[in-house]
Amino acid sequence: MNNIDHLSILESQFNIDFSDGEIKGKNLINPIKKIKDLHGIFEDEKAFSKLDSDKIIYEVQAILPVKEGHEGGLFYGKTIIHPGKVGDEYYMTKGHFHQKENRAEFYWGIQGEGMLLLMDKNRRTWAEKMFPGSLHYIDGYIAHRTINTGKSDLIFGACWPSDAGHNYREIMVNGFSARLKEIDGKPQLVSS
Ligand code: PA5
Ligand code: NI
Repeated sequence: MNNIDHLSILESQFNIDFSDGEIKGKNLINPIKKIKDLHGIFEDEKAFSKLDSDKIIYEVQAILPVKEGHEGGLFYGKTIIHPGKVGDEYYMTKGHFHQKENRAEFYWGIQGEGMLLLMDKNRRTWAEKMFPGSLHYIDGYIAHRTINTGKSDLIFGACWPSDAGHNYREIMVNGFSARLKEIDGKPQLVSS
């Protein structure tokens, strides 16, 4: 940014398709999570073991305009979670606290329907409904996981500080204190 000429009028660096959140621009990263990357996340291990290990469960597309860990910058991303269940549990992200725990984040719904699962440091867990246009402020010290409860892709956007980092360890070890399951045909939170 410091090699830009005074009085320049430039094209935008990135473009977003508002219908599906697709980001166009340079230096995008595109991590993909398959069944084989999600061991220990779902409760029903028998149902999990029957799934094709190369099946894609969710994918992220993100703009990292500054280096990971840089203080004062922002990252921007889009996540697609495909529809489906492992046993009676919907497809979902791994979920995390931030490495710098006080860092907050915004999520917003773009397509499909789902749930944002939130848990504080006292392991109190609750959820917010996600739908196109829903906007979610995730405060610092709150673990967050997204879940596709619908029949089509759940697509949502996110914006977070470039020094937030992702701490997956705590969720891998202790999980969330509740799971979202389909019970009597609708999503319900169950203590775990
Ligand atoms: O930064 C975020 O919170 C999101 O971009 C998530 O990383 C994304 O939704 C994937 O979830 P997870 O990082 O828990 O695998
Ligand atoms: Ni986050």
